[in-house]
Amino acid sequence: MSNLSSAILSEALAYANPVDIKGKLAELRETAPVSLVEPEGIRPYWAVTRLEDIRYIESNPQLFSAEPRAILILEALEKENQERFGEIMGVKTLVHMDGPRHMELRKITRDWFMPANISKLRGHVEELAAGFIERMKGMDGKCDFATDIAFWYPLRVVLQLIGIPEEDEAKILGLTQALFAPDAFATEEKDVMAVFFETITAMGEYFTLLIEDRRANPKDDIASLLSNATLDGELIDHFTLTSYFVLLSTAGHDTTSASLAGGIQALIQNPKQMELLLANPELYPQAADEIIRWVSPVKHFARTVLEDTELGGVPLKKGDTVAMFFESANRDETAIERAGEFDITRKSTKHMAFGYGRHNCLGMHLARMEVETFLRLLLPQLESLSLNGEPSYIPSHFVSGLSSLPITFKFK
Ligand code: HEM
Repeated sequence: MSNLSSAILSEALAYANPVDIKGKLAELRETAPVSLVEPEGIRPYWAVTRLEDIRYIESNPQLFSAEPRAILILEALEKENQERFGEIMGVKTLVHMDGPRHMELRKITRDWFMPANISKLRGHVEELAAGFIERMKGMDGKCDFATDIAFWYPLRVVLQLIGIPEEDEAKILGLTQALFAPDAFATEEKDVMAVFFETITAMGEYFTLLIEDRRANPKDDIASLLSNATLDGELIDHFTLTSYFVLLSTAGHDTTSASLAGGIQALIQNPKQMELLLANPELYPQAADEIIRWVSPVKHFARTVLEDTELGGVPLKKGDTVAMFFESANRDETAIERAGEFDITRKSTKHMAFGYGRHNCLGMHLARMEVETFLRLLLPQLESLSLNGEPSYIPSHFVSGLSSLPITFKFK
């Protein structure tokens, strides 16, 4: 049994050491799969660590709502957000809302992310992946795969879809990293809350200009679609609209980057799996999905209990907060056979990395295709690939993955 308090599950900095987090999640799955956690500065919540319980929450939005709290943040920040924006989360995106409005808003961009459109994009994504592989070729046989390659490739894919120009990529990457891991940017002069407000303000300003531009000069991109979309005959209100842009421009790359870097790490650490993949190229799609399960970059989402109920035999009260730990669901041996093994031949896609139900990830087909494409183009060209130093991890209890992955490689 670990001596660490369960409160580490909502401590951003603890995620810089994933071993501790994985250990604590394994212990809770085993001993208390629905377990009350009372951290300092964050509302008490029930940590839910088994796959079936998480699926139950996601399948019953009439009992467990994404409103008003979709993630665990400081109570002081919730209060300040409420005063500044009238919303405790500081944004109002698809992940923060339920009911018919959620579905109406989701429908606006849905077709862009459905398999029919994703397969049309494949050729273009291949070109982008090939460009980043060329970049590796110019790197003298070593690089930090996370910061040099993985951060940038999914970023370019999704920003092109939205319609954000290449010269703004670094800005959007910086803002995304600050939004998802404000602890990594906090200093003595600027605390986590100040980082959050600075980031959300900069995003608001950036997307306001983009919206104005696409209203004046519509193009064939998601920015134009969203900026000009109407619901009940009216343009979407400004706060909801900028929030939508915040969601797409953040959720659409950090998660996929973390999966790609984590996938390269997992394949290096499991040479038999690498051999298997190289010998059986038809396994690339399955390998991509297994990588995403293995990495599980989205660490949690929260829900509010709407009426007194029970979960896994534990009574919950109306107003309680539950937090679904997706990474834990994906290591749950009671739901996934040999969940602790990285196995690219695994056929089932029953994992929870993309969530489940009405809020399930809109970008899942794109994310899988991006990871698959990159590996399929890169790996057969390599003569060798190895780790070249200690990796490090992003300190975030929301979206986390490798912040650094030094590697060496040789092209054939
Ligand atoms: C929602 C994971 C990539 C867009 C979500 C959720 C998870 C998730 C866990 C919440 C699901 C729930 O509450 O049931 C991931 C992972 C990714 C990834 C692991 C990469 C490996 C992407 C990409 C996009 C995207 C590429 C493209 C823009 C979205 C959107 C939502 C969402 C719009 C909100 C859906 C809603 O609430 O209706 N994602 N995501 N994601 N994701 Fe992803």
